Amino acid sequence: MATGASLYEDLRPKLREATKAAHHRIDHHPLMAPLVRGELTARLYGDALLALYSFHAPSERAFAAFLNDPDTLPPPRSAWLAADLDRLGRTEIAQSDSGPVWCGQPPASPSEYIGMRYVIEGGSLGARAILAPLIERLPPECKPITRFFDGQQDERDWLSFWALAERLAPLDPDETVRAAVRFFGEIEHLAERRWQESRPAPSSSTN
Ligand code: HEM
Repeated sequence: MATGASLYEDLRPKLREATKAAHHRIDHHPLMAPLVRGELTARLYGDALLALYSFHAPSERAFAAFLNDPDTLPPPRSAWLAADLDRLGRTEIAQSDSGPVWCGQPPASPSEYIGMRYVIEGGSLGARAILAPLIERLPPECKPITRFFDGQQDERDWLSFWALAERLAPLDPDETVRAAVRFFGEIEHLAERRWQESRPAPSSSTN
């Protein structure tokens, strides 16, 4: 069981190592990759934001259902994504037409809760890290539309998350890691489904 200072020093590297391959796959996924490499149009930016929304919104609800204390709720990142999408003129959310969304396993214990929150809180660190190059690469009309990526001004949310993990300790490290890996896997699967469904069906030849 991990508690206190050993949590950050022991559990964080375990989580990072166990999810490294999945992180690599997700940041190279065709829905996400345009955020950091290749062509970045308003359309591709909106598609990436919508893919992020498709797991942030339902997972925020699952986190709130598990621990509904205002001090422990994650920042409202899905609302920031919705605001960015609205400013981009993407109306899918308003029309309840945002495609497949995450409907995986919700957290069933404090260890699972922390494992799953790690995926989201770490993702927010990554978002902040790519903000400056992202603004450089965005088309001019999209440059001011980065509420989601701008969410974490410093590491305060990341530090609050680890303080929360300490409050919920003792945690079972294996269970925490399994939940993070499972959640990453579900997000990867969701991204793949969204990608496949967004592509035109191959035209069938009639002769
Ligand atoms: C183009 C897409 C992405 C890029 C370029 C990216 C990049 C990064 C970077 C640069 C970091 C290190 C941040 C730092 O230490 O300050 C990071 C951390 C992290 N990202 Fe991503 N990320 C992407 C997408 C995602 C997504 C979609 C998720 C979750 C589903 C995610 C989960 C994480 C996690 C959990 C960490 C923390 C790893 C640790 O413990 O240090 N990332 N990411």
